[in-house]
Amino acid sequence: MRVLSGIQPTGRFHWGNYFGAIQQYIDLQTEHEGFYFIANLHALTTIRDARELQQLTWDAALDLLALGLDPGKATLFVQSDVPEVSQLTWILMTCTPMGLLERCHAYKEKKARGITADAGLFTYPVLMSADILAYDANWVPVGQDQVQHIEVCRDLATSFNHHYGEAFVLPEARLLSDAAKVPGTDGEKMSKSYNNTLAVFEDSKPGRKRIMRIQTDSRPMEEPKDPESDHLFQLFRLFGSEQAIQEMADMYRQGGFGYGQVKQALADAAEAYFAPARDRRAGLAQHPDTVRDILRAGAKRARETAAEVLDRVEQACGISAPRNAG
Ligand code: ADP
Ligand code: TRP
Repeated sequence: MRVLSGIQPTGRFHWGNYFGAIQQYIDLQTEHEGFYFIANLHALTTIRDARELQQLTWDAALDLLALGLDPGKATLFVQSDVPEVSQLTWILMTCTPMGLLERCHAYKEKKARGITADAGLFTYPVLMSADILAYDANWVPVGQDQVQHIEVCRDLATSFNHHYGEAFVLPEARLLSDAAKVPGTDGEKMSKSYNNTLAVFEDSKPGRKRIMRIQTDSRPMEEPKDPESDHLFQLFRLFGSEQAIQEMADMYRQGGFGYGQVKQALADAAEAYFAPARDRRAGLAQHPDTVRDILRAGAKRARETAAEVLDRVEQACGISAPRNAG
């Protein structure tokens, strides 16, 4: 199966991104052919500062490699390095009913909040469809919020195929595990839009400080507590060993502990967990040419596939001469 997914470089990766998406991409790369890209064209709809976007794109590449995305197994590239995707976007746009895009939530939500959307945000799902269709992807691992966009992609591919003949492979959404819905420092879902994130690659001191500031309830220390309903425990569970999790749960049920103690244990566990990735990242940062080579090789591989698909599609819809025409 060819597995493909993109992640936007709109902020530094947080624990939610790691456990909810990146870790699962990394697991998939061993058994499947993986195409993973940094969606900088999509990020253009939110990041309007050139240097910031460039920096975040670079950081995303270093982060993904450091966290275990293996360029020997999967193809890692930057979205904009494959111009065929933008060409394909236009072709798909000509088969996209306005109504289909008007129903898409990213646009609908902005409009409901009175924010004027640009055409980039409105046509965002078409670019996303081109991302997927350009590589004949079979499976697209995404979070629940992106499932609607995969449906749009399937609709566009189906109607193109119906009209012009079978040019596109129909992709399927693979829902990323919900078990890893990571809570943020306020107990709500961790998200950069809620400013409640804990970054994967944060220096130890500020990282620990943020952990120590995680909001907790004000029940007395003696009172036994239910670990399952506590977001601090849910965070600890991401990192602790089976035994450590069990011991922590027992401590909750018995009561007589302070949240400060749990936070210290969480900070230690998280630091130990990400230490190897942090070392790898520091190593990669010292060798930017190696990272550039990896991205270049990834883009080359991705372009080869995208060019083949684009050729197929252009022939199907009559904007390039059939190969054997005189
Ligand atoms: P954010 O909500 O911070 O803007 P994104 O929407 O860019 O994050 O998410 C990128 C990926 O990370 C998506 O696949 C999403 O499902 C996953 N993800 C983000 N936050 C969480 C979370 N708190 N728990 C689990 N997965 C998450
Ligand atoms: N829109 C996705 C998100 O915000 C990122 C993305 C862009 C993507 N193109 C994609 C995901 C293609 C899967 C397939 O998370």
